[in-house]
Amino acid sequence: MLSHIIDVLADPADGSALSGADDFTRLVSESGHSYDVAKQGYVTLASGAGLKHKGDDADMVTARETYLSKGHFAPFVEAVTGAIQNALDNAISQEDVPEPTLLEVGAGTGYYLSHTLDSIDGSRGVGLDISPHAARHLAKCHPRVGAVIADVWQTLPIRDESINAISVVFAPRNPAEFQRILAPGGQVIVLTPQAGHLDELREPLGILGVEEGKVERMYDQAEGFLEQAADPVNLAFPIQLDKESIAAQVAMSPSARHISAEELAARMEALPQTMSVTAHARLDRLRAV
Ligand SMILES: C[S@@+](CC[C@H](N)C(=O)[O-])C[C@H]1O[C@@H](n2cnc3c(N)ncnc32)[C@H](O)[C@@H]1O
Repeated sequence: MLSHIIDVLADPADGSALSGADDFTRLVSESGHSYDVAKQGYVTLASGAGLKHKGDDADMVTARETYLSKGHFAPFVEAVTGAIQNALDNAISQEDVPEPTLLEVGAGTGYYLSHTLDSIDGSRGVGLDISPHAARHLAKCHPRVGAVIADVWQTLPIRDESINAISVVFAPRNPAEFQRILAPGGQVIVLTPQAGHLDELREPLGILGVEEGKVERMYDQAEGFLEQAADPVNLAFPIQLDKESIAAQVAMSPSARHISAEELAARMEALPQTMSVTAHARLDRLRAV
């Protein structure tokens, strides 16, 4: 619910504080701007010309929900939650954080954020995504989540130094903005797919692989804003995928869009009923410079 996180939200036009009006059917800022709350419970916080991208479409979000609900990425969710817990423990030893405030950027269905909120007593979370389809899931993924549609590439509608931990799972980042909104001692937890991720699916289906150097580029972009806060952790584990899960994995990623639906269906048909694949990703923790 947006009321849980209202004090960390900011007017995207000028950064001023927001509060709920008319029984939280809209948010109004100190400077007089008004943002309607959708009946599904999320708010779009964008200024000027609005949002330039749409993010994941309805089919991608549904496929992601189907895939993640089968627990195939459970080791990823455990690792992300563990890293956030560690980051908060470090921060809490520096100062008192009774009610940690989390932000997940590109939060999708809220699978990761809701797991973390369940695991960390008293925490509350902002689930931010540019996709309205994702926002609908986010708004109902956990009682302590507030769902916001915003573009991570623009000024984030979040107050300065208000967030204890930011997480980004396979989604875009904005290091300058992360530096601005991190509370003292706060950290950014980033999970990035690594070369080899689900490669067993790529060859038979002809879908794109993970490009090399993703993590190096992240550190280059973060230069001057964020720095490494802990040793990175490489995660790799096997997954048994049935046909429904393979179809969902393909549908939730943009990598198969260059193949026609008919061709992809023919290649899917030729696959065995179950496949053993390997997940590869790297978990990094960063802090403000
Ligand atoms: C690969 S999905 C990952 C979703 C989620 N983190 C997960 O792993 O289940 C990337 C997400 O980032 C969102 N996204 C893409 N561009 C964005 C942007 N500029 N600002 C905010 N979210 C964005 C998409 O809509 C999508 O939900």
